[in-house]
Amino acid sequence: MADKDFLIAPSILSADFARLGEEVDNVLAAGADVVHFDVMDNHFVPNLTIGPLVCEALRKHGVTAPIDVHLMVKPVDRLIGDFAAAGATYISFHPEASEHVHRTIGAIREAGCKPGLVFNPATPLDHLDYVLDDLDLVLLMSVNPGFGGQSFIGSALTKLEQARTLIDASGCDVRLEIDGGVKIDNIGEIAAAGADMFVAGSAIFGTDDYAATIAAMRDQLAKA
Ligand code: DX5
Ligand code: ZN
Repeated sequence: MADKDFLIAPSILSADFARLGEEVDNVLAAGADVVHFDVMDNHFVPNLTIGPLVCEALRKHGVTAPIDVHLMVKPVDRLIGDFAAAGATYISFHPEASEHVHRTIGAIREAGCKPGLVFNPATPLDHLDYVLDDLDLVLLMSVNPGFGGQSFIGSALTKLEQARTLIDASGCDVRLEIDGGVKIDNIGEIAAAGADMFVAGSAIFGTDDYAATIAAMRDQLAKA
């Protein structure tokens, strides 16, 4: 896979929220491709973050890059229209958070956004059986959702290989994203296992030089 096919998606969960517009501008100028936007509700996950108003504020600030909204909320459906209106590009959700997964995927598509399905570390890929063709994104969690700065769970590598096989067999144009514990020193093996879109929060926002960190990640990707 050519380097240009790899997308780096910094998670703004680890950004300085008091300077969010500037942080997003800086990380995009440093070479990031996509803004990963973590939405938590203190119900589906034990943390509380940001919603559609903040997504809209980033668009009004002038952010034109794709915004990858990762919903860790239950229920999901009522927020879809709000995030679409707020300028979301991708909207992904966890199957455990929707009573009707197929309907939710359709609602995201109908709202004009790209649907994604997210798999917790212990959630089987079976949920893809009848919906893979309807998705633009499969997102595998390599930590339990809720917090930045956790360690990568190794079994996600095997799961990535399995998801990559399913996506390739389907012939569909579907991104395979990984989220949690991605660093310069493991991004290469994560890419080799099949991922083509990489969320990284603390590994990027926790460093002083975002451009140097992203460049180091791309060096590893070029070797993968
Ligand atoms: C966790 C979030 C992640 C998180 C990743 O629930 O979905 O996007 O920000 O953070 P790092 O890259 O620090 O593991
Ligand atoms: Zn996320």
